[in-house]
Amino acid sequence: MASKRVTVFGGSGFLGRQIVKCLAAEGTNVRVAVRHPERASLLKGFARDSQIELVRADVWDESTVARAVKNCTSVINTVGHYVEKGSSTFDAVHGQGALHVARQARQAAVERLIHISGLGADPTSDSPYVRARGIGEVLVKEAFDGVTILRPSVIFGPDDSFFNTLAGIARRTPVLPLFGMGRTNLQPVFVGDVAEACVSVLADPSTEGKVYELGGPRVYTYKALLRLVLRQVDRRRVLVPLPFFLWDTLAALMAFLPDPPLTRDQVKLMKRDNVVEGTTLTLEDLGIGPISVEEILPTYINPNHRNSAS
Ligand SMILES: NC(=O)c1ccc[n+]([C@@H]2O[C@H](COP(=O)([O-])OP(=O)(O)OC[C@H]3O[C@@H](n4cnc5c(N)ncnc54)[C@H](OP(=O)(O)O)[C@@H]3O)[C@@H](O)[C@H]2O)c1
Repeated sequence: MASKRVTVFGGSGFLGRQIVKCLAAEGTNVRVAVRHPERASLLKGFARDSQIELVRADVWDESTVARAVKNCTSVINTVGHYVEKGSSTFDAVHGQGALHVARQARQAAVERLIHISGLGADPTSDSPYVRARGIGEVLVKEAFDGVTILRPSVIFGPDDSFFNTLAGIARRTPVLPLFGMGRTNLQPVFVGDVAEACVSVLADPSTEGKVYELGGPRVYTYKALLRLVLRQVDRRRVLVPLPFFLWDTLAALMAFLPDPPLTRDQVKLMKRDNVVEGTTLTLEDLGIGPISVEEILPTYINPNHRNSAS
């Protein structure tokens, strides 16, 4: 694939870095398009110097998107954010921003586009995040016929925010509050599997125009995942059910903070299961046998973390 050039929007992020690493490992030239390329210089270490190019682009600014996709064979859009801030709304990033990437990729005669969405994306959802993801999918399909959409469940791996945050809380506090009774189902998927899925999609033209839901090999309740984390950090903690209305109140109060650790939308997301529906293609259809949480978690969550308080 040495003559190919793939632009990865969001290539400095948690998932984006892994995608860049996988593409670079197979000899692909990669252009990483982000708002802060100076924060992404470590990516250069993944490959020989000229193989990875860092460019400044904001998906909200279509002229920067046009420059970033120029002379590329494929584009992967992995841009995302979880908290709205100023003009950086969910709609601006997951909706209109995604449209800008798809439209400019089409205009630049890019062959393949992969759009990273999320499980449960739904343009009619009452969650602004899920709704923007759903609208984004619709806009991207209209602008780029043949786009491949990947919808991961919660993604885990070294540097993830999900398990690392839970482990940090578990080390510091004697009591862990559950969302409701902790019965929400999740199907975490390994970041390396999602990155491999991108590589497989680009290598296989039959994946054009298809949607894949990406989940791990097992479904867990939130409570079961907390227990896994506790075992991993070697702590005994009390798990306390906390009704959702209290979480809603807490999130409403936190909305006044400059960087709220919890938002109303995140609470909303925890009210519904986040698992592969079985109505679309999956990792297995890409020839990937997903890796379990139990296999990977011990490689980056352990009892002797330097921040551990007890
Ligand atoms: N992590 C998960 O558990 C999970 C689960 C399901 C779906 N997803 C989806 O997977 C994708 C990647 O998630 P992630 O966890 O890797 O996110 P992340 O770590 O927050 O990375 C986001 C990336 O997007 C870039 N970015 C943000 N706003 C941008 C903008 N306006 N224009 C250009 N680049 C921008 C960021 O770099 P700069 O700040 O330098 O621009 C960064 O490289 C997202 O679409 C996310 O919604 C993630």
